[in-house]
Amino acid sequence: MIVLGVESSCDETGLALYDTQRGLLAHALHSQIAMHREYGGVVPELASRDHVRRTLPLLNEVMQKATIQKQDIDAIAYTQGPGLAGALLVGASFACGLGMALNKPVLGVHHLEGHLLSPLLASQPPEFPFIALLVSGGHTQLMRVDGIGAYQLLGETLDDAAGEAFDKSAKLLGLPYPGGPEISRLAEFGNPGDFTFPRPMLHSKDLNFSFSGLKTAVLTVIKNQTANICEQNKADIARGFVDALVDVLVAKCLTAMKESGLKRLVIAGGVGANRQLRAALNAVAAKRRFQVYYPELEFCTDNGAMIAFAGAMRLKKNPAAATRDYGFNVRPRWPLHELSAA
Ligand code: KG4
Ligand code: ZN
Repeated sequence: MIVLGVESSCDETGLALYDTQRGLLAHALHSQIAMHREYGGVVPELASRDHVRRTLPLLNEVMQKATIQKQDIDAIAYTQGPGLAGALLVGASFACGLGMALNKPVLGVHHLEGHLLSPLLASQPPEFPFIALLVSGGHTQLMRVDGIGAYQLLGETLDDAAGEAFDKSAKLLGLPYPGGPEISRLAEFGNPGDFTFPRPMLHSKDLNFSFSGLKTAVLTVIKNQTANICEQNKADIARGFVDALVDVLVAKCLTAMKESGLKRLVIAGGVGANRQLRAALNAVAAKRRFQVYYPELEFCTDNGAMIAFAGAMRLKKNPAAATRDYGFNVRPRWPLHELSAA
């Protein structure tokens, strides 16, 4: 079965073809980062309009790369939510229009399920069950994953997501959007311990997170600098911020691993690309004797491959999950727990 995946929930247009027998056939991505950078963040209307421009050329690109015909596609999976309403509408209408033209069934996929399953695209995928840390721009959640659709939420952020904390703190340091990779790069040059930031909810005895205070702490430190902040200062602040955030993420993962007794930890979402987080997790995993799995770097941030894959897994489980009813709606707010296990 060949599934075309269409991702357009935020500022990346991603298309991909996944074959349940042969694996990922092709994927193509257009990132709008350069366009939004000028505004310091994603401008939703510009995002929607750009998705309109990019989708068809990207479809042609994946068809060429995979050397298959459109009629060879068995089903079309698109991100139905959560995300920006206008951006989601572009992908959904494209997928449903194409489905109608080709008389192929369509299927709405949950963006976070895409992220959650993206490590399974790797050459050495984890087996179920596992604990998953989902760290993206909009979400920070710890989950127990027993199979496709069998997701149990163990804890989540009470305010800002980890990626949001990265982006907002980076902005305070005058770094361009998106701030996660920028602040991470800068932190490499910072001295550890020069700035110590709070570790929010580190001892809360649950698996919830809170990152908005961390961003405020960064703001306070910047405001308290009497002289202009030099580059070294910035790097030291970035280092203090990253160390604090990584400490909390790692500690909560450890608690989840201990409480569940499981031996596999999966990291998914944009912040999963973070090198300091990966280094810290790898170190504790070696010590505590559990395995950590990450998506390929290119599949940490938004992409079409994870949507094609999640769609294919859903269809494998339940072929009736796709429909030839081409009327569609998008779900900009769609809690993952509302997903059925079917
Ligand atoms: O998963 P994603 O592409 O989009 C959402 O679904 O939100 O995640 C984007 C987030 C942004 O906040 C970005 O700054 C962060 O992931 N990010 C990183 C890194 N690469 C992306 N954060 C820290 N370090 C990175 N290397
Ligand atoms: Zn995402």
